[in-house]
Amino acid sequence: MKIAVISPNKKNLEDLGRFLKADGDRGVSLYEGGITRIQPVAVQQHPDVLILDSMCIDMEELAELERLGQYHPEMTFIMLCSNQSPDFLINAMRAGVREVLPSPVGKEAILGAIARIEQKMGLGRARGQKGKIVTLMPCKGGSGATFLAANIGYALAAQENKKVVLMDFNLEFGDASLFVSDHKPPANLADVALNIQRLDASLLASSLVHVLPNFGVLASPEDPGQAMEVRPEHIDALLKLAVSQYDYVILDIGRAFNAIPIKALDHTDFIFPVLQMTLPFIRDAKRLMSVFKSLGYPNEKVRLIVNRYQKGGDISLKDIEHTLGMDVYKTVPNSFDAVAASVNQGVPVTKLVKNNPVSKSIQELAQTLVEEQDGKTDGWWSRLVHRA
Ligand SMILES: Nc1ncnc2c1ncn2[C@@H]1O[C@H](COP(=O)(O)OP(=O)(O)OP(=O)(O)O)[C@@H](O)[C@H]1O
Ligand SMILES: [Mg+2]
Repeated sequence: MKIAVISPNKKNLEDLGRFLKADGDRGVSLYEGGITRIQPVAVQQHPDVLILDSMCIDMEELAELERLGQYHPEMTFIMLCSNQSPDFLINAMRAGVREVLPSPVGKEAILGAIARIEQKMGLGRARGQKGKIVTLMPCKGGSGATFLAANIGYALAAQENKKVVLMDFNLEFGDASLFVSDHKPPANLADVALNIQRLDASLLASSLVHVLPNFGVLASPEDPGQAMEVRPEHIDALLKLAVSQYDYVILDIGRAFNAIPIKALDHTDFIFPVLQMTLPFIRDAKRLMSVFKSLGYPNEKVRLIVNRYQKGGDISLKDIEHTLGMDVYKTVPNSFDAVAASVNQGVPVTKLVKNNPVSKSIQELAQTLVEEQDGKTDGWWSRLVHRA
C-alpha cells in the first residue's frame, strides 16, 4: 500500500514517517508543505492513502478536496487536525475524508486508522498470525510447477484477498516473475541475501515486483554467479520474516536437492509436487516421494497435483494413486492456448481468460487452501458478506 504524508511541520512529518515505516511493508513518502502540495502529490504519486497534517482547511478548500477525491475515488484521505469541532468533522466527512485524527497524532491512532483502511481494501491480515508456506516442485522439467506457483499466488491475492508473496528459489534460470508480470524486478533473492543483516518488512516489500498491492514476487538471482551469494541460513531468516508479514508464502523451488531447497522444504507447510500423466513423470514422482520420506516429511505435508490432466488416457488417476501410495489432491486440465497466451503475455491466466477450465481449477485450488486454513465456515457466503 502506498501512503503519502503532507505536513508543514517537519517534526510531525518525521514522526509519521517513523510510525508508518516501522509497522508493515508500506511504501511511505513524506512531503513538507501545505495545501498547495495536495493536488500535485495526488496526481503524480497516486497514493492509496493521503495523510494531510496540520491543515484544518476552510469550507472552500474542503470542496476542492472533495473534487480531488471524485477524480481519484481509489484514494483515501486522512486529516490530522487540532480542530475536532463537530462542525468541522461533519464537513470533512462530507468532503470524503475517511478519518480525522488529532495532530500531532500518536502511533497507535494512526496505525489503527491505516489498519482499518487496509482491511477495507482487503490487504489486512491478522496481526501475529503466522502465514503458511506452500512449495511447488516439478517432478520433472516442464511439469508446470512455476506456472501453477505464480497463478495460485495470484488467485490467493486477487480472489481470496490474502496477502501473498511468491519467491523464486530456482537459483539458476528462475523465471517465475515473468509468468505474471512484465516489469523488471527491483531486486532479487541474491540482493536480499546480500542485505540479510538489515532485512525487514519494508526492504523485503521494496524488493518485490508488485503484481497487485497484496501480491508481490521475489525474483531469482540474475545469473549463477549472483546465486552463489544465497546461503541456507539466509533462507531461514527470509522465511521467518515472510511468514510474519504474509498470509501465504509460495515457493517455486525447481528440482535440485541441495542445501537451499531442502531448507525451504523443511520450513514448508505443504509441498505440492507437480506431475503429468506419463510414465517418466510418474517414475520421477516416485523417486521424489522416497526422498521426502527419507527427509522425514509426513504424507500429510505432501499434496500431489496432476497438471495437464486429460481423461481417458493410458494411465488413470487411480494408477497414479496406487503407484505413489497417496491420493491426488487436485487435477489441472490441459489448455494449451489459454496457458500459452498467459505465459507469453506475462498475465495471470485467471485474469486473462476467466472462464477457462485451467483458471477455474486454479481458483478452486486457492479457495480450498484458504478454506482449509481459515476453517470451513469461511466459504463463499462468509466471503460475500466480508466483501459487501
Ligand atoms: N495446464 C496446462 N495446460 C497447457 N500448458 C501448460 C499447462 N501448465 C503448464 N503448461 C505449459 O508448460 C510450460 C512449462 O511450465 P513451467 O515452466 O511452469 O514448468 P516447470 O515445472 O516450472 O519446469 P522447469 O523444471 O523448467 O522449471 C509452460 O510454459 C506452459 O506453457
Ligand atoms: Mg519452473
